[in-house]
Amino acid sequence: MLGLGVDVVAVARWRRLLRSYGERVAGRVFAPEELAQCRGPRAPEQLAARWAGKEAVAKALGCRPGSWRDVVIQRDPDGVPRVLLRGAWREAARARGVTSCHVSLSHEKTVAVAVVLAVAGDAVGGDAVAHGALAQEAGAGAAAPAGTPGVVEEK
Ligand SMILES: CC(C)(COP(=O)(O)OP(=O)(O)OC[C@H]1O[C@@H](n2cnc3c(N)ncnc32)[C@H](O)[C@@H]1OP(=O)(O)O)[C@@H](O)C(=O)NCCC(=O)NCCS
Repeated sequence: MLGLGVDVVAVARWRRLLRSYGERVAGRVFAPEELAQCRGPRAPEQLAARWAGKEAVAKALGCRPGSWRDVVIQRDPDGVPRVLLRGAWREAARARGVTSCHVSLSHEKTVAVAVVLAVAGDAVGGDAVAHGALAQEAGAGAAAPAGTPGVVEEK
């Protein structure tokens, strides 16, 4: 393991922003694929959780190198959230020796929380590689270099 990050976010802020400005404001910090997965009555909770996830990634990596839209938290077909890093975030992760980031989200009506583990190599066992492989597939077709599971570049 190389880094650990946690963040808590009040759902009310995202509820207010969505009510006032719709997805337009969310689009400043969320990637289109994140917005597509967070529509419906629980959107404020889900976006708050993903916002917490982005902040937790920054804590786990120890930096905040680029656009928040390049830290993508995507739900895989099993419902498991995956972190995809693009652009400057991906480069910063690689420079630090981080090969994958693992996230766990939880949310309810008022609060959302995320924990992120930044991993070097196969530090948490074969499962990390399996997760990374799934994240790579979810990365809009982008191919990560061998040995960098979960850290995906922009297509
Ligand atoms: C996964 C589960 C525990 C979520 O619990 P919950 O209290 O309803 O919801 P929480 O707010 O704590 O967490 C929701 C987040 O969990 C994450 N999640 C969903 N399924 C997950 C899974 N199988 N593994 C890891 N995380 C998962 C998602 O990020 C979800 O957020 P999203 O809906 O915005 O994408 C619940 O849906 C469940 O029991 N599912 C069936 C059993 C299962 O798959 N368990 C896996 C863990 S043992």
